[in-house]
Amino acid sequence: MGQLLSKSSKPARRTLPHKTEGDITDSASDLGHPTAPALGLPVLKKAKGHYWYPVDGPKILDACGGAAVACLGHGRRDVVKAINSQLTQYTYASYAHFKTTPVQELSDWLIKSTDGKMQKVYIMSSGSETIEAALKLALEYFLWTAQPTRTNFIAREQSYHGTTLGSLSVSGHVARRAPFTPLLQPAHFHRISACNPYRQRLPCAAGDGEETDASFVARKVAELEAAFARLGPDTVAAVVLEPVVGAALGCVPAPRGYLAAVRAVCDRHGALLILDEVMCGMGRTGVLHAWQGGGEDAAVVPDLQAVAKGFAGGYQPGSALLVGGRVAGVMEREGRTFTHGHTYQNHPVVAAAALAVQRAVEREGLLGNVRVQGELLGRLLRERLGGHPNVGDIRGKGMFWGVEFVKDKGTKEPFQPGLGVAERVHKTAVREFKVLVYHGQGCAGNGRGDHIMIMPAYTITAKLVEEIVERVASAVEEVFGRPWVV
Ligand SMILES: Cc1ncc(COP(=O)(O)O)c(C=O)c1O
Repeated sequence: MGQLLSKSSKPARRTLPHKTEGDITDSASDLGHPTAPALGLPVLKKAKGHYWYPVDGPKILDACGGAAVACLGHGRRDVVKAINSQLTQYTYASYAHFKTTPVQELSDWLIKSTDGKMQKVYIMSSGSETIEAALKLALEYFLWTAQPTRTNFIAREQSYHGTTLGSLSVSGHVARRAPFTPLLQPAHFHRISACNPYRQRLPCAAGDGEETDASFVARKVAELEAAFARLGPDTVAAVVLEPVVGAALGCVPAPRGYLAAVRAVCDRHGALLILDEVMCGMGRTGVLHAWQGGGEDAAVVPDLQAVAKGFAGGYQPGSALLVGGRVAGVMEREGRTFTHGHTYQNHPVVAAAALAVQRAVEREGLLGNVRVQGELLGRLLRERLGGHPNVGDIRGKGMFWGVEFVKDKGTKEPFQPGLGVAERVHKTAVREFKVLVYHGQGCAGNGRGDHIMIMPAYTITAKLVEEIVERVASAVEEVFGRPWVV
């Protein structure tokens, strides 16, 4: 793709051309609208490995796996075989009537993957369902333990935890909440600020550089403490957050010490910690569970954990709620049953698919690949785009990287939301450079701020990482009107 770039010696910022009415109509409807294909989305013929093959036109390099879903890439015969094999034995069994081998094997595998820290597993279909279930299980746990006043949840601004009313109530995503606010239960869902080092670190008093992780984290924790104090510590059921914030902020990892400090506040006040690993979990950051840390980050064990997306890698609609020792222990000791059940909970075909995906990740040592290629992806993105005047920040880890666009790099001023900058990059990338990235808005707060996310499958090679970066950089340069030569 290198030849797609023409070179220029003078880098410069430019203003974006105004959107045409056609752009706006198309964009507003492209994501998830049932009539979207009529509005310009390509019709898909097949998908294989790292590529999508539309009916018309050339193949598209998949740099985001949909929404961080296709962690193994597309068309894996081993996974399809496992699904087929399950389909030929039985396709469905109610969790209320039977135990099934795939569900048991998968649950055992998941529990083992946490070294027994998580002790129970509920298999579901979507991320929203698992968050909904986590909120409900937290409430029920406090009824079992005679703490009925604990009905408040503390989450963060600029967060997304799902589309159902409970999971959306806990979310702080302005645009996704807006039409539904009358049903979003403000009495029980409270928010503190996001934890976004790029936008929130204060300058040092001495005037050189920014505050350290330790002082930044201390400010954040003080805010959480104040929220507990305001609500009354014995009214708080749980704190809910993503260890690495996905779609709402664009792949922002928690700074060192933040998760442990939040955990300590929860423990001090007897509240649960619910970690939403729907997007960042199941290997995406280079460890199986994001809370396991790695490198300089210590493990921080949650009480309840939601996983989805990479859980079944898109081969089936699969998700799971993992229950830690504190809650599971009460359930075991007191013979309690969670008052919650979906018809398709613990679906054997979903479990067979997830098990096949997870075993492949394990067998092929893909978490190591995620770490190695993740380093490369981050380095190349920074080398190629770090100097661009409209690229404010590049952050992430593993196969989970975000690029945030700004109007002014010095002040970090975001673009006007109506310009749809991230969406333009997404569209240009897919239409002209045949690479699919995920885009989002709102990372700068109040619905402002544009980012794209690069989240390839764990089987990625160094060559494909280079290809992705080159194509994405070309799209960015194209959108901002001129090539940028680093
Ligand atoms: C962090 C997070 N939580 C929850 C959800 C909801 O998951 P689903 O769309 O599968 O219901 C999402 C979806 O993108 C997510 O990114």
